[in-house]
Amino acid sequence: MNAESLLKTPLTERLGCRYPIVQTAMGWVADAKLVAATTQGGGFGFLAGATIEPDKLEGEIQRVIELTGGSNFGLNFHMFQPNAQECVELAIRYRLKAVSYGRGPDQATIARLKDAGVLCIPTVGALKHALKAEQLGADMITIQGGEGGGHTGSVPTTILLPQVLDAVKIPVIAAGGYSTGRGLAAALAAGAAGIAMGTRFLMTTDAPPPKSTLERYLAVKDVDQVRVTTAVDGMRHRMIDNAYIKQLEQAGPVRRLIIALKSARQWKAGTGMTTGHMVRTFWRGVREDPAAASQVVMAANQPVLIQRSMVAGRVEEGILPSGQVAAAIDSLVSAPELIKGIVDEAQGCFESLLGRVEPSSSTTTPQRETT
Ligand SMILES: Cc1cc2nc3c(=O)[nH]c(=O)nc-3n(C[C@H](O)[C@H](O)[C@H](O)COP(=O)(O)O)c2cc1C
Repeated sequence: MNAESLLKTPLTERLGCRYPIVQTAMGWVADAKLVAATTQGGGFGFLAGATIEPDKLEGEIQRVIELTGGSNFGLNFHMFQPNAQECVELAIRYRLKAVSYGRGPDQATIARLKDAGVLCIPTVGALKHALKAEQLGADMITIQGGEGGGHTGSVPTTILLPQVLDAVKIPVIAAGGYSTGRGLAAALAAGAAGIAMGTRFLMTTDAPPPKSTLERYLAVKDVDQVRVTTAVDGMRHRMIDNAYIKQLEQAGPVRRLIIALKSARQWKAGTGMTTGHMVRTFWRGVREDPAAASQVVMAANQPVLIQRSMVAGRVEEGILPSGQVAAAIDSLVSAPELIKGIVDEAQGCFESLLGRVEPSSSTTTPQRETT
């Protein structure tokens, strides 16, 4: 056994990539360029199908194929997005290697994807969701610990990973808090098939956000600056603390509904919401439950809130999903450089472990022979 062979796992075998490193989907971030750079570096990338405009999605898939010469990459989508069915059809038509999802397709759709050779790799944040995903037919599972960016659970990676490894038979990919080769070595040693990273791939020179946005991520020096809020859509969402989420959290239910509708109005083109629809939503919300109504508007509006910070660079006026690991990252490198650095460091960890194991095994063998 050598350090290099330890990097060959069910993930590299089934996804056909050189290293067990996955670049996860991130809204407005995981575009064709980032996915292609990840693929070229030997990792496996997912396109962010939940935020790529429906009429541009097929072109984005074709662009990765052109840049990489194949379809060894994945597509992320969620069943609640209007073009979810189209995502399924595109994944099948272009013979993509895998799809990832949170709220996922039903058993029949999963079976259809699998029959077409598309691997189904949901992301889960709790043991019970991992069990359900396996039961529905998932080929692998990504577990995301609570330190991870975007929508996230409350169980830390170090607790969730062994829990899920003990409970399921399919390969498990570890996510939430990874950025280094030490992390990769630790995850593989624990039994994971690889690691998946969002924030670390966002903080690369291949990711599309403007300089002002990337500088905001680099400025995070303390994990407490990346916190969970439920003010956006009622679910646990980890992001960099900023003026926008403070404003949302401090507002009462009616004020929050007004903020939600105001931002929806400004970005009406993105949400397709008409003024009449907005007024009706407002009055219905005020009469019924303003808090719930603001969450519904915000959930629909979320892609545009991310777009403000990730595309327009207006970092105090939108949301900045991030893992706590942003506090441990102080420079931008290209995706291939990142992957190489992680692989080299992981191999160094394995070599040092094997170095510790081998001398002691050579002393135990002669002892056995003499007894
Ligand atoms: C900016 C950003 C946007 C994200 N958008 C999505 C998304 O659209 N769909 C999704 O399934 N996960 C999304 N996530 C979660 C990531 O795919 C990934 O699971 C998470 O970042 C892993 O934790 P880490 O950030 O500690 O690496 C997002 C995360 C970030 C940081």
